[in-house]
Amino acid sequence: MESLLIHGGNKLTGEVRISGAKNAALPILTAALLSAEPLQLANVPHLKDISTMLALLGHMGVRVTLDDQNRVTLCGESIPNKDAPYEMVKTMRAAILVLGPTLARFGEARVSMPGGCAIGSRPVDLHIKGLQAMGAEIHIEHGYIHARAKRLKGAHIAMDMVTVTGTENLMMAASLADGTTVLANAAREPEIVDLANCLIAMGAKIEGAGSGVITIHGVPALHGAQHSVMPDRIETGTFLVAAAMTGGRIRATHAQPDTLVSVMGKLADAGAHVTSGEDWIEVESDGVLNAVDVRTAPHPAFPTDMQAQFMALNCVASGVASITETIFENRFMHVQELRRLGANIEVTGHTALVRGVPRLDGATVMATDLRASACLVLAGLVAAGETTIERIYHLDRGYERIEEKLTQLGARIQRVH
Ligand code: UD1
Repeated sequence: MESLLIHGGNKLTGEVRISGAKNAALPILTAALLSAEPLQLANVPHLKDISTMLALLGHMGVRVTLDDQNRVTLCGESIPNKDAPYEMVKTMRAAILVLGPTLARFGEARVSMPGGCAIGSRPVDLHIKGLQAMGAEIHIEHGYIHARAKRLKGAHIAMDMVTVTGTENLMMAASLADGTTVLANAAREPEIVDLANCLIAMGAKIEGAGSGVITIHGVPALHGAQHSVMPDRIETGTFLVAAAMTGGRIRATHAQPDTLVSVMGKLADAGAHVTSGEDWIEVESDGVLNAVDVRTAPHPAFPTDMQAQFMALNCVASGVASITETIFENRFMHVQELRRLGANIEVTGHTALVRGVPRLDGATVMATDLRASACLVLAGLVAAGETTIERIYHLDRGYERIEEKLTQLGARIQRVH
């Protein structure tokens, strides 16, 4: 098993090129199931979750090719297997995203029920309810969601909770439904807008993506298109926190500043100097930071996927701050590990109270999920001595070449077997 070995204490400085967004690329790849014509995608990141999704789409029958410009072309002309097997869904919950498009285009889909995952139970009831409202018959058989509908019908769907992949699944399904669908209480994440833009390029009729109400006028078929995946705002935010914590200066290029307003605001509150241009953000800091309160909530509020990284920041800031997680019930697993490095954190229910300490000390810690891993890397970058992070396969699910990018910025970090 691979680990990361970090010698903390270096200031990180320089430019880092941000990769395409994992959470935008995943639904956009599944959009290939909606059309018989090729979908050509640029800026798809090289990540474990992406190869898992490509393997799933390949299993279903999508032809996937990669050209010398790193563009991925997907052709879903024929889809002999309309199922997502357990083996694939259990490693990547986003596999549920094949449900809506497959059902809408072929009238049938069979997707393994995702189990619980480390950060919470994460049900998919709202995906199912939405498809049922559009006329699908859905049975849970042998651990699989089996959905059938001759042709989905447009419906007015008010979602009980804001769900990102739920909104994406229903938006894709509604694109090929008969009539108009209105999704109320829809997720407003930038990745929803990126998916909508790709679907619109494929001929879908979608209004309101990025707002709480999305209207989709179904069309009989979608055609081929080209699309470039948006920059990863969570990768961007993670590097910006690294600049603040190490007292360095990092410019994230090929980024999208308007997707990171709340994160940039928190970094400025912490005392970092934050500037941005059309497609870059720069953070400069002397490493003297104030603790900042954080409360996660759906976009445009502070993202849950940046919560762990700000926990790391608060560990070495001066003062006390509270971090409240409102999206997932069990997303504080990094607390135990940060304590091993000397952090002072008290958890009560969904809130963690972090008291900054003068320094963290390197130790061996274990990554428990994707963003928790990122938080341990950040802590390791400022801890005195050596930090070893085990189980970094979580990190490889969502950060492209992270140790290479950090090394270029001046970190002492290496992958060890
Ligand atoms: C997506 C992101 C993930 C991010 C999360 C919240 C992808 C691939 N993943 O995950 O990185 O952390 O949004 O921003 O885009 N819920 C239900 N029933 C449902 C669906 C969701 O109760 O049918 C609950 C979940 O348990 C959770 C909350 O709604 O408490 C939000 O989850 P959701 O937005 O669906 O997260 P994902 O789309 O899985």
